[in-house]
Amino acid sequence: MPQTDVIIIGSGIAALSAAYYLKHKNVIVITKSSWTESNSMLAQGGIAAAIHKNDSWKNHYEDTLIAGCHHNNKHNVKKLVTEGPIEIVKWCKNGMTFDTDNNNQFLLGKEGAHSHNRILHAGGDATGREMTMFLYNKIKSKAVLIENEMALDLIIENGTCLGVRTKANNGALNTYLASKTIVASGGCGAVYGHTSNADVITGDGIAMAFRAGAEITDMEFIQFHPTMLNIEGRCVGLISEAVRGEGAVLINDRGEAFMHNIHHQKDLAPRDVVSRAIFEEMKKGHNVYLDISPITNFKERFPTVSNICRENGVNIEHGKLPVAPGMHFLMGGIRTNDKGETSIKDLFAIGETACTGVHGANRLASNSLLEGLVFGKNVASHILSVPFEKRASYSIDEGTDSQGQKLNLPTRKHIQRVMSEYVGIQRTEAELTIAVNWFKTYQSTFFDLNVKNLTREEMETINLLTIGWLISSSALKRTESRGGHYRLDFPYTNDNEWNERQIIRTKEEMY
Ligand code: SIN
Repeated sequence: MPQTDVIIIGSGIAALSAAYYLKHKNVIVITKSSWTESNSMLAQGGIAAAIHKNDSWKNHYEDTLIAGCHHNNKHNVKKLVTEGPIEIVKWCKNGMTFDTDNNNQFLLGKEGAHSHNRILHAGGDATGREMTMFLYNKIKSKAVLIENEMALDLIIENGTCLGVRTKANNGALNTYLASKTIVASGGCGAVYGHTSNADVITGDGIAMAFRAGAEITDMEFIQFHPTMLNIEGRCVGLISEAVRGEGAVLINDRGEAFMHNIHHQKDLAPRDVVSRAIFEEMKKGHNVYLDISPITNFKERFPTVSNICRENGVNIEHGKLPVAPGMHFLMGGIRTNDKGETSIKDLFAIGETACTGVHGANRLASNSLLEGLVFGKNVASHILSVPFEKRASYSIDEGTDSQGQKLNLPTRKHIQRVMSEYVGIQRTEAELTIAVNWFKTYQSTFFDLNVKNLTREEMETINLLTIGWLISSSALKRTESRGGHYRLDFPYTNDNEWNERQIIRTKEEMY
């Protein structure tokens, strides 16, 4: 049974950043596909940091709280915006490059709800890919990378995490023991049909931590990105918010720039506001477009978006891109403090999998790569400061044979339909109740992946069902509207009752 110092589950920016800082320890990074399949690789717009002389961390801090509807953990936000620039400067000294002008000054873009131009970008609109590849090259000779192996369940004994059980794509069940286990497997985009997320993002880390007894929080806060490329009702890729930052304008099919009447920041209002405005236009029967004609160097500035358009038969020369909102980011996740500690000893979480509270009810644009860098480093610093315990060899139940046992699971599409219809951008008690009751009918499958011959698809379905229940039941409980959680029957923010209050889920309260 392999035994190591640290296991990291996932291979995005947060995972790789933690692996880098833990490089003098024995680290195993486990990912269920190729290391290149992550949301970090797909991140376009950039990484936010107050590095310009006219900007300051205080501005970034305020913008993050306003976008997050003041549901944020202020201590952690301060860490994010003050430590972020230090990390970025450090990485640049270490060889990471961002786009610069002829005078070697960073080209700083603008995105929704930012008061200043502070978005660094790389490769035009391929920031996540450039950063992930850079970090991967830094860690590849230091950490052991195991691909195509899915984490099934955490091993918990006496309230302590001892490691993880996995299933390789070839069917082999494996057990890894570690002194510390870090979950960094991303959010849960695949629970919705229209998403910017990689297909592999099925909420595995959060569902697994929930099964293990960890506290999960803020699951009702879902960020729908306003501008996914929309081809005949299918969302086929992301159109970065940086496109609006460069001057593109949302219009309906009458050519009306409808954001002008909705928010003083117009097309660069917070994402939740823009997504709801587009949704309202679509409810009126309008198609919505991004008018990109004000951007003269579109292809050079946005090569990734240009490619997505070309691959989907949209001619950017016509100046109008059809768009619709789609699931983009989960503000909630495994509840952690600023050191990445969860409610289970020796279990840590970072990145989108975790909920440190930095994003509040709605993440500020381009704060997610920053979160990965900062909290990846912080979890590593903390882990290096505490004792490492060697695990005694552990006897594991190899799992039961499911032959003859019929798991009656729905299709992924069915789960996505339930989420879009009943737990979408606008929610009501009646619709949420339908969703919660539907997910509850699968409750018996939530807690046992101890079945030898479950396929990867079945394991992912069980995780998606768990996530669907966590989101819909939390959304039903929060009787107000705030950020990425909008209730038609409670359309106002209720600061008296709900401001800093978090809905915390544990497996005990399911029954
Ligand atoms: C975008 O480029 O619009 C996405 C970046 C982010 O989610 O912050």
